[in-house]
Amino acid sequence: MMALRLRAQHRGFHSRRPSRARDVARVGRVNPPAIRVVAIAAACILGLTAATFPADEVHWTITGQNSVTVDWRGGDAEVRYGTTQALDRRVEAVAPEPLPFSSRGPFREAKITGLDQNTLYYYSIGGGPLHTFRTPPPRGGSGFTFYVQGDIGGSLDWKHVAECQALIAEGRPDFVLCVGDLTYGNSVGQHAVDTHFNDVMRWSLDAAYMPAWGNHEWDKPRSDDLRNYKGRFDLPNPQSSPADRRYPYTGGGEDWYWFDYGNVRFVAYPDPWSGAWADWAQRAEEVMAEAEDDTAITFIVTFGHRPAFSSGEHEGEPELQGFLGTLRARNPKLVLNLNGHSHDYERTYPQGGVVHVTAGTGGSNLEEESGSGCPWRGGCPEPPWSAFRAMHHVAVRLHVENDRIEGTVYCGPAGGGGSNTNDIACAQGSVIDSFTIYPYGLKPGAPKPPSEEEEEAQAKKPAPGR
Ligand SMILES: [Fe+2]
Repeated sequence: MMALRLRAQHRGFHSRRPSRARDVARVGRVNPPAIRVVAIAAACILGLTAATFPADEVHWTITGQNSVTVDWRGGDAEVRYGTTQALDRRVEAVAPEPLPFSSRGPFREAKITGLDQNTLYYYSIGGGPLHTFRTPPPRGGSGFTFYVQGDIGGSLDWKHVAECQALIAEGRPDFVLCVGDLTYGNSVGQHAVDTHFNDVMRWSLDAAYMPAWGNHEWDKPRSDDLRNYKGRFDLPNPQSSPADRRYPYTGGGEDWYWFDYGNVRFVAYPDPWSGAWADWAQRAEEVMAEAEDDTAITFIVTFGHRPAFSSGEHEGEPELQGFLGTLRARNPKLVLNLNGHSHDYERTYPQGGVVHVTAGTGGSNLEEESGSGCPWRGGCPEPPWSAFRAMHHVAVRLHVENDRIEGTVYCGPAGGGGSNTNDIACAQGSVIDSFTIYPYGLKPGAPKPPSEEEEEAQAKKPAPGR
């Protein structure tokens, strides 16, 4: 696999250093949102109201062992569902709170409860096409598959979004963790929000969409804010972070959450507006400690937008390294952290027992360093903690068994023309990286659990300041 790496000897693009604030390169953008404007104009001429559009932006989340919630825009307000295609049950949707504002909607949310676990259900919105949702496996169960991607965007602005989503759909995952910078609505306009939620329908009709928030969801409140995201998802075990008054809709609920899926406890982390991480670390400790004591849980997996380790455009966050290191020392089931933010793929060797995977390749442009011949801001060759990295679009698949998590990384579309260049060459769909993560202490040679004294010493260490 390493042989696939083809270093660019002489990179032909200009050497202007990309601004750190600009993590969305514009090269490779395609048409402006003219198609949507034309569609809306045509609908107005025909006298159609929003509610007469078929449902779109359809996606669902796992909200518990026996429940899911479906969110969509337009169409009918009723979802019919059942274990057979007869769809013998129905639920009426309500307007979500907070209400998304990317378009006129209407936005709808239907909470479906009282389901059997580990069961496939058929559903239809307003008599539209049949799709399926699946409740989680029994507690402690395994044999499921999920994908992780961040830094996605919409297909009207980035030409690779549709291909990247199609590659995920081909894998037929049970759910997809989307680790922030979902739409770039705050950079390119509100059309991108609606476009994104339509683009992901390649998989989100039949696989759960489990999000985390990135900087682009909240840090430019004049052009987008968390209403468009908190309002589109019903999250399991939703948690509030302290609000940052400079940024409306931070805090107040659905800032992070956790859920169990079979033998894994998944714990999201918020984006670091003021106070959010310190609060999270304290409260995540309780969520993880409970999982440590739970014999049904074999693994703890964290996911969020920012990297603790990255040699890409955005370097790792020392504060997050500190928090995750402390959490792992106390909770050895924590074995994997999944993030985006740097638009590349990178996997670390275990850091204090935790493998970190950056999967910032959901379709928006890659983030290469220009001018030096090395596309990685963290330098070439890779840092010693970096096990494998690729400046290339990829699809990251995780498959969970009772005694291991298997990672398989598929080659996605090439970066594109102009300055959007790759550092590996691979055939789309081929495997460029694979890895296996074992439960703590199971694999021969795995580090031994810390002693009580070591744990105490670790606990007394002050958390690094931000
Ligand atoms: Fe980001």
